[in-house]
Amino acid sequence: MLFRIPQVLNLAELASIREILAVAEFVDGKLTAGWHAKAVKHNQQLKTALPEAQDLKHKVHSAFVRHPLFQAAVRPRSIHTILFSRYDEGMSYGRHTDNALMSGQDFHRSDVSFTLFLNAPNEYDGGELVIEGADDEQTYKLEAGMAIVYPSSSLHRVQPVTRGQRWVAVGWVQSLVRDPAQREILFDLETTRRSLFAQSGKTDEFDLISKTLSNLLRMWPTSVGRLELLTPRSLYPC
Ligand code: NI
Repeated sequence: MLFRIPQVLNLAELASIREILAVAEFVDGKLTAGWHAKAVKHNQQLKTALPEAQDLKHKVHSAFVRHPLFQAAVRPRSIHTILFSRYDEGMSYGRHTDNALMSGQDFHRSDVSFTLFLNAPNEYDGGELVIEGADDEQTYKLEAGMAIVYPSSSLHRVQPVTRGQRWVAVGWVQSLVRDPAQREILFDLETTRRSLFAQSGKTDEFDLISKTLSNLLRMWPTSVGRLELLTPRSLYPC
């Protein structure tokens, strides 16, 4: 499921993040790309070891965690990786798919990817995020503070920036529910019960949908806990 999330960050948060990024140290984005994505990744990324990078990650992490639409649609188990990217004039990120497994202290599966736009679309030309479907593609260039959330399994790219700078935060999420179709059912039920509640309060129908939602959540959550024990890290150089 592809969807936009409005107002992940408010204007004050955006301004404070941009102020820090404007003077922070950036490094070549190839350092955090998989071996095949390196060939097409041309951008700059905030050096992750900096203390300010940890602070910014925390801000973005909290903003997603508190967002009700993100919670209902993604069911995050962990937002395990967040990077801050800058595309100067001439930079782009060619067609690629994101790594399925990312290792930090532990392995995490990438179910869902997000791009959070940190500056206004009129500040740069080009720089659209293009996500490929089976026989078409969708193009996104959103307002500052908005995010697009999409399956990590998709092929996608960032078009060359031809004027100005494109600033984004990108991240990867392991969901409690691995199957996107199951996540969609949970999202539809959640949306329906909230709508019913808004119209008629806590009715018998609301209670039954709530019961079903809870029981599906008990039935479907998955984890890669065993994978951490079973998979040698060297098999997955990220
Ligand atoms: Ni990507």
